[in-house]
Amino acid sequence: MSTRMSRRRFLRFAGLSLAAGALAACKPAVEMLTPTPGGSTALPTATPTRLPAPAGSPTLPAGSLGEVDVEIALRAVESSVSIYPGTPTRVWQFQGEVLRGDPNALQFIPDSYLGPIFRLRKGQKVRIHFINEIPEPSIVHWHGMHVPAEMDGHPRYVINKGNTYVYEFEVLNRAGTYWYHPHPHGRTGPQVYMGMAGFFLVTDDEEQALNLPSGEYDVPLVIQDRIFDADNQLVYLPNGMMDRMMGFLGNEILVNGKPNFTLSVATRPYRLRILNGSNSRIYKLGWEDGTPLTVIGNDGGLLEKPVQKPYVVLGPGERVDLWVDFSAYKVGTRLTFQNLPYTMPGGAGGMGGGMRGGMRGGGMMGGRSGGNMRTTGAVLGLGDAYPIFTVQVERKVDERQPLPSRLSTITPLPLGEAVNASRPRRVELVMRPMVGWTLNGRTFEMTAVAEDEIVRLNTIEVWEFVNIRGGGMMDSLPHPMHMHGEHFQVLERRVDPAMKAAWETLKDGFVDEGWKDTVLVTPGESVKVIRRFGDFTGLFLYHCHNLEHEDMGMMRNFEIRA
Ligand code: C2O
Ligand code: CU
Ligand code: CU
Repeated sequence: MSTRMSRRRFLRFAGLSLAAGALAACKPAVEMLTPTPGGSTALPTATPTRLPAPAGSPTLPAGSLGEVDVEIALRAVESSVSIYPGTPTRVWQFQGEVLRGDPNALQFIPDSYLGPIFRLRKGQKVRIHFINEIPEPSIVHWHGMHVPAEMDGHPRYVINKGNTYVYEFEVLNRAGTYWYHPHPHGRTGPQVYMGMAGFFLVTDDEEQALNLPSGEYDVPLVIQDRIFDADNQLVYLPNGMMDRMMGFLGNEILVNGKPNFTLSVATRPYRLRILNGSNSRIYKLGWEDGTPLTVIGNDGGLLEKPVQKPYVVLGPGERVDLWVDFSAYKVGTRLTFQNLPYTMPGGAGGMGGGMRGGMRGGGMMGGRSGGNMRTTGAVLGLGDAYPIFTVQVERKVDERQPLPSRLSTITPLPLGEAVNASRPRRVELVMRPMVGWTLNGRTFEMTAVAEDEIVRLNTIEVWEFVNIRGGGMMDSLPHPMHMHGEHFQVLERRVDPAMKAAWETLKDGFVDEGWKDTVLVTPGESVKVIRRFGDFTGLFLYHCHNLEHEDMGMMRNFEIRA
């Protein structure tokens, strides 16, 4: 244990172990992911025919769309990729193939575990055959997409290995950077960690008319943290229950599945779409030299107009679209995009590096992988400074492209039309000893909804996520709160004065403009959002997008009823 561990930290740790005790009894303290080797990396061969109907999904209206514009086969497979010299890393990954329609509807990232990038257009009708070939149940969720309940990847629709689930929906979303990942209850964290995730990009006429950087100048970048063992294999939750309560934190940063990622650019403007695809790590992102960022979009697409931020803060699941103009740089320039230091209110920011590193050093971890890491040294602390990726200015071009001063129209949802403007639905993010992280004290139940989780179809509501201090000895943690279905607008953030100083180290990086589907709620914070619940009835999810929290049940259904 770190000799400098404060009393407060110690108390927090004590609280953790207390809460962890009950759960630890039935779960292994260390979880190593060891998928069976030998999975094929080859893409499925072309079979432009209807695949067999999925088993075990009786409510599927497969075929109801009739002719579709794009038809895709998406397989989850055991595979391996070369990430470091030596033994390839065993991963689980999505592999895709366009069966019908525009062959560019899928774009592949070479030599990466990441799934293919979907590139679709608003108004397109799509059919996606999800074929599960990993050795456990899974289902795919289209994060940020507004689709019917049966198409949303709810955990109750999981399919076993060998089965297929057919998704059909019309792309209703506006242009934006969405993504897809598995959503089985209790196993989302490990499956995403093993590599299952990909971008789901939508364009529309409005965006096309802006003539933003496109093609090779439109670069999706997913940031993830990982731990590898000495044989280059992924290590998940080396500290067992402790990691579950805090959320997994790695000691290496991968961008698009690669360590020490370098982006070679030309001297012209780029659109960088950044997704925090990490299980639990929160980033405060900016340029090493302090150059401000020009944000043009976030979770739900383009902002009304570009905004300047000194840095951006991204919790897991959140996205940001940056306009970056490299035309002023000389060829040969190297720029570092990095995590900037910050203090997480409540003190959680230092826990990764300080306390957990200390634990590892002190031999408290007891994990099989402890002395066997590929890299030695502590897990990166949340609030530490460390590089994310490097930009290498490589090519001189003379291509001017002006940044549009207006990007879109964001109409504020009328507060006056909300059915509960004066009494927002309140969601308290609380730790319950012996239970774990909860929403209003409840954990996930597969099909249950509480009385206060029923929403009327086609209404507007205000929800408030309240991150009050957890009970007992435990300080609260940041929770990136995500809602399925339509996007929301952030109305207000309120902060506990006691947490304000730390919060100030983050606040200028929240991109609360525009449409959001995930919002980071830091300790001591209360965030009010407004959204519409339109078009589709049924069960949808709201949850913490810290995947370890989600897996332990910090997730609930809400039901939209006609
Ligand atoms: Cu990206 Cu329900 O999650
Ligand atoms: Cu989602
Ligand atoms: Cu959480």
